[in-house]
Amino acid sequence: MTAPQSPNLPPELALDQRPGLPEDLRFLLGDYPRLIWGDHPNFGPTTRFYLDRHAMFREAMTVMTRLTDEALDGAKPVGRWSNEFGRIAGFFLQQLHGHHQIEDMHYFPALLKLQPRLQRGFDILDRDHHAIHDALDRFQAGAVGALNALQAGPSDPKRPMAEVLEELRRMDRLMDRHLFDEEEIVIPIMLDAGEDSLGL
Ligand SMILES: [Fe+2]
Ligand SMILES: [Fe+2]
Repeated sequence: MTAPQSPNLPPELALDQRPGLPEDLRFLLGDYPRLIWGDHPNFGPTTRFYLDRHAMFREAMTVMTRLTDEALDGAKPVGRWSNEFGRIAGFFLQQLHGHHQIEDMHYFPALLKLQPRLQRGFDILDRDHHAIHDALDRFQAGAVGALNALQAGPSDPKRPMAEVLEELRRMDRLMDRHLFDEEEIVIPIMLDAGEDSLGL
């Protein structure tokens, strides 16, 4: 992960504060609104793959939330929750760390070169990654703690699961904002320049 390039971003643009991208970063999005992305002639396999990764992260969070809800409701045995949740959480954390690494090292520098006017947008996304990593660390620590506690047979097995669910919901809100705003910066540049210009 790169260090934040612009520590001077105002607090209202922080991931847990902003309602969306500021107006001055939406000039390219005006030409490439979300509704037309899939039908644009420059929408190729790299763009598809990129959006599919984001969809996979959203889906993993939805499934982890559903599994935990079911276990807390008593619809799913705790032992099954441990197995299924542990498997998906491990996959999610590994894939998301890898995705951020690729974005920080390859996608963001290449996209910024194509559209330097969006520098502040990439500063925002970079700061988001740091905030998400803090949330991921908290989530991972909570999940590992819950899985270990369940193995040891706690007196109230639902308590650690409820704490994991709370952390998961917090992370879900952050990820939702980040993925949405990131797509609105990244995809218009890809469509405008064409995937071949990325040099990835
Ligand atoms: Fe990202
Ligand atoms: Fe991403």
